[in-house]
Amino acid sequence: MDKQTVRDFDPSGKRVFVRVDFNVPLEDGKVTDDTRIRAALPTIRYLLDKGAIVILASHLGRPKGKVVESMRLRPVAERLSQLLGRSVPVTGDAIGLGTTDALARLKPGQAILLENLRFHPEEEANDPEFAKTLASYADVYVNDAFGTAHRAHASTVGMAELLPAYAGFLMEREINALSRLIENPERPFAAVLGGAKVSDKVKVLENLIAKCDVFCIGGGMANTFLVAMGHTVGKSLLEADRVDDAKRILADAEARGVTFVLPTDVVVAKEVTRGAERKVVQASKVPNSWSIVDVGPSTVKAFEEALQPARTVLWNGPLGVFEIPTFGDGTRAMARFLAERADDGVTTVVGGGDSVAALDQLGLAEKMTHVSTGGGASLEFLEGITLPGVAVLRDREAA
Ligand code: 3PG
Repeated sequence: MDKQTVRDFDPSGKRVFVRVDFNVPLEDGKVTDDTRIRAALPTIRYLLDKGAIVILASHLGRPKGKVVESMRLRPVAERLSQLLGRSVPVTGDAIGLGTTDALARLKPGQAILLENLRFHPEEEANDPEFAKTLASYADVYVNDAFGTAHRAHASTVGMAELLPAYAGFLMEREINALSRLIENPERPFAAVLGGAKVSDKVKVLENLIAKCDVFCIGGGMANTFLVAMGHTVGKSLLEADRVDDAKRILADAEARGVTFVLPTDVVVAKEVTRGAERKVVQASKVPNSWSIVDVGPSTVKAFEEALQPARTVLWNGPLGVFEIPTFGDGTRAMARFLAERADDGVTTVVGGGDSVAALDQLGLAEKMTHVSTGGGASLEFLEGITLPGVAVLRDREAA
């Protein structure tokens, strides 16, 4: 990575503002998935052990510039305190007198979490005064919020322009893993893309098609490709305005000699609901009043055959309506297959909430070479976009 990191300054006795992505799911006041909190621990521990005063800050949800009680960070601070083995209090507000007083009382080796930054509309507006206030809390800025690095907000860009700004360990790990994929993957390099919409992934497809040897397409987005090939998809999710994009991508793949694998059989259901009647049909014979909800068993086999020689596999997005367990066979099969390939030394990189959830459900996340904590951020990175929260960090050459 060409950016300086926490290793490039002496944190001892310094006030270090660490932007983390603690945008985690909550239920009944408890964190239900602490992956993002755990992922930030190496940076937090490192800074505390070196005697820094650590000021943590994050958003949670999309409160739209207002205080929303259910989006307070207290449950996150509680979980973080348990994981760190020391108490991390949370302020009542990200700014204001109470906060500056609490910050003034902190001693080296102590950490505090600011309340949800997005309770202030100035955060998402990247308001210069708000950025200045946040910057006034610290001597140094560290961004470990890879998941939010695609947002140009006050805490990810504005304040980073006002302080010496470094990458945290998680940021470094994410960028190294994803850069290696798009810059220098061990070949053959395959991408498995799923999820609901082609529109979310068109740019990723366009960028990766010049780099990948094999593509396997599943999930709702495959429906648009099936229509581009002249099939009908019944009541399935379809982006009719993206069929031309799909045709262009198919033609590009063919011109470049890229293997492009689409579903040959699919699971269809009468309704996209739990317990609905379902059956497996040929992808070319989807009945009018049924919806595609998963890839079929022959498709799973075809995907596995196409992926078998790959030395690097990127997977982003579920292959079916995975949140309904009976429509999740294809997604779970992919998770198991990639775990096996990882055991054989294949580089496996997984991003996107549902594919990661499938790995977690099966206890297979640990097997992967890299599981990204970024949804939108990892997609934009794979599109070849320079993320604003990364661009603003100190370049290594400047060291
Ligand atoms: C995410 O969960 O993708 C990040 O935390 C960013 O959240 P946002 O899409 O609300 O900006």
